[in-house]
Amino acid sequence: MPTTPALGDVLEIDDRTLLVFGQALDVAHDQPDAANALVHRAGDTLFLVDTGVTDAFRVALRSAVDRVGPWTRLVVLTTHGHPDHVGNNDLADELGRERNVPIEHYVPARDLPQMLDPAAYWIRSFSRVAGIVALPAPPKLAGDKVVSLFQPLRPFAAVTRTYEELPLERIALGAVPMTGWSFADGAVQVLRSQGHTAGHVVVHLRDSGLVHLADEGNGPCGVMQDADQLKLQTVLGAVAALFENGQATVLTDGHTFAVRRADEAASYLNGLLDQAMALQQLALSATKDKTPVDPHEFAERYGRGVTELGVGGANPNPMFTGMTAVNQLAEIGLRPDGSESGASWSRPALANPAPVAGMPRGLALVPAAIAMLRWKLQKKDR
Ligand SMILES: [Fe+2]
Repeated sequence: MPTTPALGDVLEIDDRTLLVFGQALDVAHDQPDAANALVHRAGDTLFLVDTGVTDAFRVALRSAVDRVGPWTRLVVLTTHGHPDHVGNNDLADELGRERNVPIEHYVPARDLPQMLDPAAYWIRSFSRVAGIVALPAPPKLAGDKVVSLFQPLRPFAAVTRTYEELPLERIALGAVPMTGWSFADGAVQVLRSQGHTAGHVVVHLRDSGLVHLADEGNGPCGVMQDADQLKLQTVLGAVAALFENGQATVLTDGHTFAVRRADEAASYLNGLLDQAMALQQLALSATKDKTPVDPHEFAERYGRGVTELGVGGANPNPMFTGMTAVNQLAEIGLRPDGSESGASWSRPALANPAPVAGMPRGLALVPAAIAMLRWKLQKKDR
């Protein structure tokens, strides 16, 4: 796509599916990022996948819902709890009320804590890289500042429930058996991926041959403290195979301002997996014979590697690259040597555990006997 679309621009994928474009993060200009959203109709049900953030994006979503044909039910699906994806979730109530139609809205249970208290989540994320990469302010101030950009922030509607309250289903993504939840007789499938955040899901629109990765495609290694690289790589591999086998034809995500089709999607996904391997290799060579590792030095080296490999993602800035760097240290088996910010990282010493004594002897018998008596009186042994 030659030019970056403006917030709220709409790309027609097919006559029942629209991608509503968000925008990039620009903290210096108080601009929050807003994730792309999907509008899709399956039969008489309208699906909204994510709701972005800002009033302007809400207006764009409201006009997009009338461009995919008539509908008499509404299902809003949240891919994960980040504020750039959930700001207008109360649109579920508003549209349901105005149209007088049944509405549902689902969010992943494991992302509820960050949706309930986004400031705490971001302060914790920034604390992990304090002293490692340049932060414009202490973590508390930086976290509050970033979250303050995402207004209005309404992750919950009156109808909001967690996906996990629905019976879990076995759903095959091509040849890969996965688990998740299906809607509209299987036309829309929500698959648990849990790579980018603890609760993340990806969405498969069967009739459009479309897979929406949301933020699982956000660079090869995820960025969040609760990210799981194995899960991220597993879902990228499964989706790549889907495109290679012609079982999906359109790939969208939360922050790319374009759609990728067929072979282009497969090679993009395989490229992400190759980058993940290259970054792991880089982390190994940057830490080899160097324990303890200075995380600041490592993050700089890692950042240079990210640039050389052309790893992009939604937020190619030093702060998010620093978060990825810290994740990578943990992935290759290092642990921080202390709890203060900027502490060095080392491989744990591989000392065999001392034998455990088992039953207490001597004076240690007295407190043990009291503990046993209390245990039995409280009937915890039966
Ligand atoms: Fe995200």
